[in-house]
Amino acid sequence: MRAVDWDKGTVRLIDQRRLPWELVTAEYRDHESLAQAVSDMVVRGAPAIGVTAGYGMALAGLRSQANSLDTLRADLRQALDVLEHARPTAVNLAWALQRQWSVAADPTWKTPDDVRAALIREAHAMADEDIAINRRMGLHGAELISDGDVILHHCNTGALAAVDYGTALGVIRTAHEQGKRLHVLVDETRPRLQGARLTAWELKNLGIPFDIIADSAAGHLMRTGRVDLVLVGADRIAANGDVANKIGTYTIAVLARECGVPFYSVAPCSTIDLALSDGDQIPIEQRSAEEVLTVLGHPTAPEGATALNPAFDVTPSRYLTAVVTEVGLVYPPLARNLRRAMSGGIE
Ligand code: MRU
Repeated sequence: MRAVDWDKGTVRLIDQRRLPWELVTAEYRDHESLAQAVSDMVVRGAPAIGVTAGYGMALAGLRSQANSLDTLRADLRQALDVLEHARPTAVNLAWALQRQWSVAADPTWKTPDDVRAALIREAHAMADEDIAINRRMGLHGAELISDGDVILHHCNTGALAAVDYGTALGVIRTAHEQGKRLHVLVDETRPRLQGARLTAWELKNLGIPFDIIADSAAGHLMRTGRVDLVLVGADRIAANGDVANKIGTYTIAVLARECGVPFYSVAPCSTIDLALSDGDQIPIEQRSAEEVLTVLGHPTAPEGATALNPAFDVTPSRYLTAVVTEVGLVYPPLARNLRRAMSGGIE
């Protein structure tokens, strides 16, 4: 089952807020409610929200009553604005919307129905490509993993985060499929527990051995030699190789460097934003204090307590051993080599 799917004019999402307790899907027939689902994290993970936004544009096309190309494009522009504001950090969302906008703007279409059909086709193409890209990243990344390795992983980067298969978890999955014996240390990933709830659920289903750890245990485990490598995803990578990813990633990267543990980010090229020169320009989503002040809906702090909740952080590129992309492993200097990778030129 795909995390994001389409069935005759309906977008179907696995409701990730309800895992691991129940596997249920939610259905959306208009782009406004789909944008809300992205904000509420029914679906989450950079590639998955990109594909969801692509389907959102397809929904907007279907729902529009326009009978001229100009009116349809005006409706689609409004839908794009709504979807774009659903979550700010993962660039895949804006990337997918831009891709759909190019489809809508194609001057070869003769009728609004041509555009509607093309938006649906393009959304399907994005979903299928996403899975194929994950498989390619899996093969490149698996070269970094040796039999018996212990891998520290943050947040959820699996099939749920990437339509199917996964980015960093896809690498782990490929190495497992190749017969390598692995053990994964799963950061629980407060405040929303994507590691404990989602990554552990996926690893259990795949039969890959793991232990969940409190986020704050990562440093101790790395210092005492119990981690061979760190694999994380990315929500946006700036042109100089700075990586925005789930809050806590920066802490792990600095500790990994201190402890001599290699640190890799696994991300498709659609996550690389060459328009931003460095990570300080990446918008960091601030989510509600309630996510920090509760665990699974139960208050954990005195009434009236306040909290800060930045949902992502930026890891400066100097902490990265390499970035795993679908076109290969990209090593430092990342400012030069990411640009080369994007234009298909890895040596
Ligand atoms: O807030 P989330 O759960 O959407 O954050 C997800 C992550 O940070 C992932 O690591 C990232 O999207 C890359 S993995 C596909």
